[in-house]
Amino acid sequence: MCGIVGYVGPRQAAPIIMDGLRRLEYRGYDSSGIALLNGHGLDVRKAAGKLSVLADELEGTDTSGTIGIGHTRWATHGAPTTPNAHPHVDQSGRIALIHNGIVENATAIRKALIARGHEFTSETDTEVLAHLVGELYEGNLEEAVAAALRDVEGAYGIAVICAEEPDTLVAARNGSPIILGVGEDEWFIASDPSAILEHTRSVVYLDNGEMAVLNRDGYRVRTLSKRHIDKPVNQIEWDLATIERGGFEHFMLKEIFEQPESVENTMRGHLLEETGDVRVYGLKLSDEQARRINRIIITACGTSWHSALIGKYMIEELARIPTEVEYASEFRYRNPIVTEGTLVIAISQSGETADTLAALHEAKSRGARTIGLVNVVGSTISREVDGGLYLRCGPEIGVASTKAFTSQVAALALVTLRFARLGPMTAAEGRRYIDALSKLPAQIREILDRSAEVEVLAERFADATNALYLGRGVNFPVALEGALKLKEISYVHAEGYPAAEMKHGPIALIDENMPVIVVAPRDAVHGKIVSNIQEVRARGGKVIAIVNQGDDEIARLAEATFIVPETLDLLTPILTIIPLQLFSYYVALRRGCNVDQPRNLAKSVTVE
Ligand code: AGP
Repeated sequence: MCGIVGYVGPRQAAPIIMDGLRRLEYRGYDSSGIALLNGHGLDVRKAAGKLSVLADELEGTDTSGTIGIGHTRWATHGAPTTPNAHPHVDQSGRIALIHNGIVENATAIRKALIARGHEFTSETDTEVLAHLVGELYEGNLEEAVAAALRDVEGAYGIAVICAEEPDTLVAARNGSPIILGVGEDEWFIASDPSAILEHTRSVVYLDNGEMAVLNRDGYRVRTLSKRHIDKPVNQIEWDLATIERGGFEHFMLKEIFEQPESVENTMRGHLLEETGDVRVYGLKLSDEQARRINRIIITACGTSWHSALIGKYMIEELARIPTEVEYASEFRYRNPIVTEGTLVIAISQSGETADTLAALHEAKSRGARTIGLVNVVGSTISREVDGGLYLRCGPEIGVASTKAFTSQVAALALVTLRFARLGPMTAAEGRRYIDALSKLPAQIREILDRSAEVEVLAERFADATNALYLGRGVNFPVALEGALKLKEISYVHAEGYPAAEMKHGPIALIDENMPVIVVAPRDAVHGKIVSNIQEVRARGGKVIAIVNQGDDEIARLAEATFIVPETLDLLTPILTIIPLQLFSYYVALRRGCNVDQPRNLAKSVTVE
């Protein structure tokens, strides 16, 4: 996610800030910027692209100043362009602000400020916040920041400086982490300890609703209303490498554990509980245009193709629109039929996968309307579709896709509801789905709290050389995804299959040495999958079953079970995939594999 670094003290701020931002590069970003107070006012520099672009622009210029703030931006509102990069300044140009998070009511505040004569140069919610602080500034920066934040809804981690107060740096936190570094007569602000660890291990963690006011004599912590609160100074014990992964041993594990928040972020602002509907303006599909869609093709690769399969089940079941799923690499070469009323949905975490981009071009050349479900803001696919939804799950660093998958399924649920509510789905049914969707983050967290159970399972089966994953209905793609995870990071051959299809061949593989992982929530086909488990057991196969609470019938048959919470049938993949992600992670770990960078794999396959 975005990175924040601030400094006030006797040393030159620019090198400290730039080095701190470099420490945060691993988090993924697409633009950067710095603001300095150099005795002659505010000096703001920013650039799209990597930090090296900004560094080149600073090279050879006057970057003096012993107080400043710097930012690396992971775009959420607005493409990764220089105007959208942080810091943003207020109308007067005397206040600079950097921000992590999302200001939910930015549109309303922007409209009100424009009505009062403010002019904006970016598409961002952050610039709105800077203008609000500037409008409220009456000679006291911390009070202006506190007043502005009292009007803000949403998550933020911010740092602010002002040309009229060259010795003061104000920071605040509500949802996005901000720490305060305590040095020898110098003070730091950062979104992550790794940015300042080389300067100090003494840190103060701001909690939600708190602000820090730093100047050359020290710092003070307060709430938005109260002037002072006492906070303990903590010592950072971690080494830098561990910190960059937020304390997790691998990015993949970190990203598995981020899924309660990432799924929530994907859905944030889209669920309309009262009407049982969704607000997905980004699709750029009016009701009339959506009603004219009579066929949907979803095209993607790898994990994204698996989420596409789940989308097919959702859309056909709830919106009753014929939906096909195509490997992008096949679609692009097979002279596909695209007729009037065809919508093509491209799913891609990176937004740069060559096959998916080519399939999109093929679809557009044949007149299809196109939608993208993409994570990287401003990526090629996201810019070439007619409309779409950003996954907003944050940068996915681990090569094996995990949080992007659950976010893709959540985004497909939003697309499904968009169409279903224009068609056969009643408001009551819509509210049922929206209620179930809003419960998913907590249910994912409940599963993650029991990750140690999966680690034990992985230990028992880590020496297997083959594995079979079975699922039915909407959990058949989960079986495929679970098998892919195991293959790509532990190099154990694994195959996903529709459970009933096992009888038509793969059953010959069943013996006591091959674990059979069965995804068996209590859904409409539960009875059928019990029979499949019995068929496996009858041949000495060992079954690990993903089940719901109280499923004694399968517990009696399986070698081991893992319980996941119940939800609506079509939403079960967002929960049933979590133990399979963890299983593959722990098996790979046990086998000494490079979890974050598996052999032969690239994070984004930008070649054919
Ligand atoms: C998933 O674990 C793989 N790394 C890979 O299959 C990936 O899903 C595929 O390359 C598609 O990438 P995309 O979502 O960025 O288009």
